Amino acid sequence: MHEFKYKNNQLYCEAVRIADITQKVSTPFYLYSYATLLDHYRKLVKAFSSIKPLVCYSMKANSNLSICRALVKAGSGLDIVSGGELYKALLAGCSPKKIVYASVGKTEEEIRRAVAREILFFNVESLPELELINKVAKDIGKAASVALRINPDVEPGTHTYITTGKLTNKFGIDFDAAYKIIQNRAKFSSLNFKGLHIHIGSQIIQAGPYVLAIKKMASFITKLKKELIGIEYLNIGGGLGIIYAQEKPQTAEEFSRKVLPILKNTGLKIILEPGRFIVGNAGILVTKVLYLKKTPLKNFVIVDAGMNDLIRPSLYGAYHEILPLRRTQDAGRRTNKVDVVGPICESGDFFAKDRRLPEVKEGDYLSIMGAGAYGFSMASNYNCRLKPAEVMVKGDKFYIVRKRDSYLDLVRKDIIPGFLK
Ligand code: LLP
Repeated sequence: MHEFKYKNNQLYCEAVRIADITQKVSTPFYLYSYATLLDHYRKLVKAFSSIKPLVCYSMKANSNLSICRALVKAGSGLDIVSGGELYKALLAGCSPKKIVYASVGKTEEEIRRAVAREILFFNVESLPELELINKVAKDIGKAASVALRINPDVEPGTHTYITTGKLTNKFGIDFDAAYKIIQNRAKFSSLNFKGLHIHIGSQIIQAGPYVLAIKKMASFITKLKKELIGIEYLNIGGGLGIIYAQEKPQTAEEFSRKVLPILKNTGLKIILEPGRFIVGNAGILVTKVLYLKKTPLKNFVIVDAGMNDLIRPSLYGAYHEILPLRRTQDAGRRTNKVDVVGPICESGDFFAKDRRLPEVKEGDYLSIMGAGAYGFSMASNYNCRLKPAEVMVKGDKFYIVRKRDSYLDLVRKDIIPGFLK
């Protein structure tokens, strides 16, 4: 469910007619629905209310400060993966006690900052990383809390690029190695072993792989308990899939019904780290049709957004629904197949291929749906294009929550050395 709906054939975001925003903000721009964002967060919290989990929104999906702030105000913690995300998480007002930090490549500097701020815990992905965190913590005289990220070796049934819980992936630590580390935990005198973590992949639409992974975790936890090794938290990661096209992903309720019994049995505090589930369908990318170009073999709809703004179709072959902001009478009638493409100098720069769309004209506006997650956060300045503005709607008002780049932004950090002057 989301708050992007037609009224009188005009696409609205909550109570704002999106065409009205295009009068004030130049395209392309991202548009977020505050109500949808919070609704998704609350759905998850409600589905798991019997165990009161800590939901740590995964900032990598969309780290706009207003998005993070909205969720933090609603009670969410944050899942971070870099020093930059730590910086933004704190700026968004997140308590360090609600921050968890994953990443296979944390630098010493990043670790130092996170130890100094006393985050809830690091999700540790290797033995050398664990050793470094211990050393840094000792150096600055503060104990650091850690959870071991386990690689449970399960197949999540998603795109290979976003599969993370198989032993061929770079993530996490296998059960045997983790067991040895935990047995030897006294060696790490500046670390508190607080928990275990898994994150098996992204855009997972069925509960099966989670059930399998969590069951494996549950038996591991039982094994630890037998040896009187106490663990406080189990972090089951993110990865919940959403609807882009015809998918029928599990709802939060269905998901919780499947996993809650196993989670409850562990007796541990539970953490969830969803990104896409919360923000994916809370955002769209609004773009304008620049040209219609017919070639002997193709009909191209050339729009003013490019793969630099939204890379998912180019990178993963991802499907995003495309809707006109203004629907015409015969909207049901789909026209010729078109390719919707951007202005970038690569043939991989497309949003749709051979798609039947309602008739569009030059100057029309289109909405690329389901662009709230991994949209702006993966945007770049490729081709010296300006990163788009981000706009948030709440009720009948809209707010610019990030300005569009300026040309000055493109050169601000370039330095021409003296010998070239
Ligand atoms: N926790 C960890 C440790 C993660 O690596 C991720 C995502 C999440 C949580 C959140 O996953 P989510 O709930 O959003 O599925 N760029 C790709 C998705 C990459 C996901 C990376 N890790 C895409 O556009 O599909």
